[in-house]
Amino acid sequence: MNPMSICTPSSSHSSSSGSPTKAWIIHGVVVGAAIVAAIGARGYLLGRSRRFRSRAIGIIPARFASSRFQGKPLVNILGKPMIQRTWERAKLATTLDRVVVATDDEKIADCCRRFGADVIMTSESCRNGAERCSEAVQKLEKKYDIVVNIQGDEPLIEPEIIDGIVKALQVTPDAVFSTAVTPLKPEDAFDTNRVKCVVDNLGYAIYFSRGLIPFNKSGKVNLHFPYMLHLGIQSYDCEFLKLYPKLEPTPLQLEEDLEQLKILENGYKIKVIKVDHDAHGVDTPEDVKKIESLMVEKNLS
Ligand SMILES: *[C@@H]1O[C@H](CO)[C@@H](O)[C@H](O)[C@H]1NC(C)=O
Repeated sequence: MNPMSICTPSSSHSSSSGSPTKAWIIHGVVVGAAIVAAIGARGYLLGRSRRFRSRAIGIIPARFASSRFQGKPLVNILGKPMIQRTWERAKLATTLDRVVVATDDEKIADCCRRFGADVIMTSESCRNGAERCSEAVQKLEKKYDIVVNIQGDEPLIEPEIIDGIVKALQVTPDAVFSTAVTPLKPEDAFDTNRVKCVVDNLGYAIYFSRGLIPFNKSGKVNLHFPYMLHLGIQSYDCEFLKLYPKLEPTPLQLEEDLEQLKILENGYKIKVIKVDHDAHGVDTPEDVKKIESLMVEKNLS
């Protein structure tokens, strides 16, 4: 089981230090805008300038079968199926032209149609969420430039994070993938289900690991270092997404059991934005009770 593969719902439960999500995102986008100027010029010089990727679609991949939690997308959270809550959040993102659910399951499809979602049926052979998204966009008549893979088990996902990663990809033409990180809680430092990420000065991913990176020579967590936790939300360039399932697994990907490393190992660039997000992923039936009490407490029902 790979908790951070693109298909499998992320089990990130990160901390929130209280600064507003928007501030982080706006920072990311402003930095991105400066980069686009530089990269745009280089792209032009290299004769490979690209068209602006304006059209974005959000896809919520959902499957019924799950080793840990059968029927998870349909679990009731304060009176609504979890997938409906995720869909309602995604619909609030202003950068998405459309939001669809991609599933191989009739029960999920029926349920989603009843609350008004567009549904695309995908085959049972999809190995992960990215492959399901890839199949889904190829089945659509309308063409899109960017696909956001929105995991159905984060019913409290902020629409601002979706908009942030879409904008990050739009202003970074040499990246094929964008994703988000949030500050890592020290107690999660050595938890291999929490994926860590390091980025360069321009916000491109250098590496993702289940181990603690960077690793202090003391062998301990350095409480002064801003370690970053990878969140399970990502957007892809649509052209890249067609190619993605055809890329062979790579050594670092296999060793860490992390899908996103295949992208880096093939030499593609990943743009990362920093957000402040308190993840409340639902991985087990027990998580449902936790998220319900949190929603009641925060008046989010
Ligand atoms: C390692 O962590 C300690 C604190 O835990 C810090 O003082 C030190 O600067 C860090 N880096 C190195 C290279 O030791």
